Amino acid sequence: MSLNIDILSVLPELLESPFNHSIIRRAKEKGLLEIKTHHLRKWAVNEYGQIDDYQYGGGAGMVMMPEPLAAAIDSLSAPKPYDEIIYFTPDGTTLDQRMANRLSLKSHLLLICGHYKGIDQRIRDRYVTMEISIGDYVLSGGELAAAILVDAIGRLIPGVLNDETSALFDSFQDNLLAPPVYTRPADWRGEKVPDVLLSGDPRKIEDWRNEQSLQRTRQRRPDLLEGEE
Ligand code: 6GU
Repeated sequence: MSLNIDILSVLPELLESPFNHSIIRRAKEKGLLEIKTHHLRKWAVNEYGQIDDYQYGGGAGMVMMPEPLAAAIDSLSAPKPYDEIIYFTPDGTTLDQRMANRLSLKSHLLLICGHYKGIDQRIRDRYVTMEISIGDYVLSGGELAAAILVDAIGRLIPGVLNDETSALFDSFQDNLLAPPVYTRPADWRGEKVPDVLLSGDPRKIEDWRNEQSLQRTRQRRPDLLEGEE
């Protein structure tokens, strides 16, 4: 199984580094993830490379024109239809782990990064199948949101992580935050690692971690426990 992701952007330079390190790089090297960025200007309507225009009704800020986007989407989806065509927008559904889990099982995704005031509504109506926000704040463009989505789903693709790095123990995977972690030295400037972690008793350690997870979640994110207790 592998995941193919195409990203449509007016600033593909922003997406050069995020996918060339660590786990996402390994996913690509293992052939489990393929990411291609495409410059929207390639489908510009004229020789000036125009892809945006003033908005009808007036108001500050440009809107991305429908034709370059439609031409790009038609051309990119011609060889194989997309499972989802995703548009990043602050008015979309907020990204969470459940959505990331679901998307990591798809095989062909198109991510559309907007800029300026966003894209013409008709493209959203005609082509877009999912609208995703990464939180209640405004970014200057969708690229960083796309990088976050790719990172979140890339590590979940079956075969990317091994047993030791397994995503099963991540925060949110069971609606709980992860417990605190420690490494050497056992005594750092007088601050000690909890005894239980040095006990060598796997059952006690697991119980402690579960308890810490629960306590942390109750304190920091009680909303995650609603309907569970
Ligand atoms: Cl996906 N895009 C933009 N431009 N701003 C955002 C966002 C996305 N998510 C939160 N803010």
